[in-house]
Amino acid sequence: MAGLDAQAAFVDHKGFTGNLSWCFASTKECQGKGVSAVQKTMSNSDLIFGPSSLTPRDILEMIESSDMESRCRRLGTFRLYPVIGDEYCSMARRFVAQRAELLTRFLSGEAVERELIQQLIGDNLDQPSQVSTKAFFEKTDARDQARTATILGHLSTLPARDSINILGYGADSCTDERRVAEHLLELGICKKATIFRYNPFSRIQNSDVTDLRLNELEEADGPAFDVILAFWTLHHVFPELRWSEFGAGLKRIAPMGSVVILEEGDVESPSSASPAARAFYFMMLCKDIIVNRALRPEWFSAPESFYARYLSNLDMQTIEGYLPRPARRHRPSEDRQGVVDETLLFYDVP
Ligand SMILES: C[S@@+](CC[C@H](N)C(=O)[O-])C[C@H]1O[C@@H](n2cnc3c(N)ncnc32)[C@H](O)[C@@H]1O
Repeated sequence: MAGLDAQAAFVDHKGFTGNLSWCFASTKECQGKGVSAVQKTMSNSDLIFGPSSLTPRDILEMIESSDMESRCRRLGTFRLYPVIGDEYCSMARRFVAQRAELLTRFLSGEAVERELIQQLIGDNLDQPSQVSTKAFFEKTDARDQARTATILGHLSTLPARDSINILGYGADSCTDERRVAEHLLELGICKKATIFRYNPFSRIQNSDVTDLRLNELEEADGPAFDVILAFWTLHHVFPELRWSEFGAGLKRIAPMGSVVILEEGDVESPSSASPAARAFYFMMLCKDIIVNRALRPEWFSAPESFYARYLSNLDMQTIEGYLPRPARRHRPSEDRQGVVDETLLFYDVP
């Protein structure tokens, strides 16, 4: 399959045409990781909303149009569990009907996320939801397993050392952190693995994990982290805390260490977003509220602690600026079906 291009033409409800184009990586590269790798060549925003020349008004019409549900299914999570996409459509249409002025300001870049988020949460917390935690995990299980295989495959290349410190930035139950620790122990890459967690908002207690407070994370001479995992967290950190806290962890990456970041959205897109790119942020925000209120209802008992702003390529530069030595960045993709709506980044630090 090396070098094969798959193309699917689409025409949207306003007659815009486009090509969904995916370039398959060589199977040789993929077999080692146990998953077929697909390199995405189109942003999620283009995939859902089409040309960046769309105006806020075009987008409001698109959200109201009857093909929005099928448009959503172009995206991995919505295809796997369409109930989420259908709820997004209802939520977005209600918002257009009741808050068109605020959404138009957001799409034009005039309203900030915080205003939009609090309004969205306030309007929707009492609305019934069809999303179930059990169904969500069942439907996304194959994708999660493929992603885990990719992550463990990558970390298998870490050079051996006696003990390994793993930092779970924004970790909750630390399931992923434990999985990584067990894998590294099984492979004999280390004889001992210690898990640290930094998540000031989590109410989950883990007796086998060392919780760090901010002053402990910021101790430059504290233990170095061989592996840092930041899964689905960075976009939830308030802008005024986002880089100082994560940056403090990154500065402590050990020699030959690895950082794994799992993020939502078009991380490589420019920070000056078009209305279509902002429409995609709005979609992700609705999805985040829909999914997290099912998976983590306790978060919404203090709705002011919920926040989401998705990363852009400028944020990637910021992350890279905190690393103490120039790192090698990898961007694997792991969805067999050709559309990857999440971003997985590895930084290997010498
Ligand atoms: C979507 S959850 C992901 C949890 C976990 N990493 C996972 O993959 O299941 C986002 C987490 O980010 C945490 N969070 C929010 N702000 C944070 C901050 N300033 N520092 C660390 N974690 C934060 C929240 O408490 C929440 O547990």
